[in-house]
Amino acid sequence: MSLVITNIGELMTQDPRAGADEGVLRDAAVVVEGERISWLGPAASAPAADLSFDAEGRALLPGWVDSHTHLIFAGDRTAEFEARMAGKSYSAGGIAVTTGATRSTPDFDLTRLAMGRVAEAVAQGTTYLETKTGYGLDVENEARSARIASTVVDEVTYLGAHLVPAGTDPDEYTGLVCGPMLDAVRPYVRWADVFCERGAFTEEQSRRVLQACRAAGLGLRVHGNQLGPGAGVRLAVEFGAASVDHVNYLDDDDVAALAGSWSDWDGQGGQGRRGTVATALPACDLSTRQPLAPARLLLDAGVQLALASNCNPGTSYTSSMAFCVTTAVLQMGLSVHEAVRAATYGGALALGRESGSDTDGSRAVGSIAVGHRADLHLLNAPSATHLAYRPGIPLTAALWRAGVRQA
Ligand code: NIG
Repeated sequence: MSLVITNIGELMTQDPRAGADEGVLRDAAVVVEGERISWLGPAASAPAADLSFDAEGRALLPGWVDSHTHLIFAGDRTAEFEARMAGKSYSAGGIAVTTGATRSTPDFDLTRLAMGRVAEAVAQGTTYLETKTGYGLDVENEARSARIASTVVDEVTYLGAHLVPAGTDPDEYTGLVCGPMLDAVRPYVRWADVFCERGAFTEEQSRRVLQACRAAGLGLRVHGNQLGPGAGVRLAVEFGAASVDHVNYLDDDDVAALAGSWSDWDGQGGQGRRGTVATALPACDLSTRQPLAPARLLLDAGVQLALASNCNPGTSYTSSMAFCVTTAVLQMGLSVHEAVRAATYGGALALGRESGSDTDGSRAVGSIAVGHRADLHLLNAPSATHLAYRPGIPLTAALWRAGVRQA
């Protein structure tokens, strides 16, 4: 079956190969054949298709690519949030509360909870989702989390190195993460991550985790520089990690290392060595009252940026990518085009699913181009600017994921 979406007021493709128009087309149409985009261009010359959808002059964007979430959990941390709003600071220790609740929740309920969170994200325009383990923290529960995650999202990340469980020797636990736990999760995951931070894993322990996971063939990501300056960004770049996430406390050397990691890349989705994406998590920054990640500075330095929700019960209990885009524009100094890019193409880059990541583009998400997966987000607004101009208003009018209507 083919579908033509016509009468698109503003088509924001986020195609990195676009020219001076930055990939923004007016009065456009898009044709979808099965799962893929087969044509896009001026509405007046759109080919016929089996079905037609009138966008009524509204804006069409790629679906959001949320490259950082923690959806496999049970329990509630409202009290911790309230204490934080009353002035207490966030510490990694809260992860243990969620781990207790998660371990005691049966598979069926844990799956149902995760599916509910995915449905919330989809209802708000997300079409591609990563999630992590990290609330199991023993071999059986990390493997269970990874298995459940692999049934509900697109990309799964192993985060056994989220917190050292109380009463456990940190170096012994790191050995478990690098050995039996890694073996148990391996069939379900594509990525590995480590929380390199005071109160979580030291630089040396993080290095051990990254080495072991790289040797096991996993792509790498790092939680870094969230609660203070530290080694996270440096390690991520040294190991060629696909992303380093949080990036709140950066010094000049961190920024230079991130920028340097992209110096050999053509910037157009294909040629040259890919660097380490800096993933900003604005909802988390607000909920933990940390300084916002310096997204403007990173972009100006030539760093590739992603925006993600970091949906989790401790630091960021929202899956709203629109909220992240709004905050990035209103508070972080990004243009609407830059913020939407970071929440679509940037997320795809962080997950190795950008255009150019495969030969025929068929795995590419996060941008609208011929051959890419048809992940399309119609806003109930004439332009993407309304995402920032009308903060808090749910603007998702329709959503297609791999060509299938979701909302
Ligand atoms: O990305 N920083 C580490 N992990 C999560 C929070 C986990 C929690 O507090 O439950 C994050 O913010």
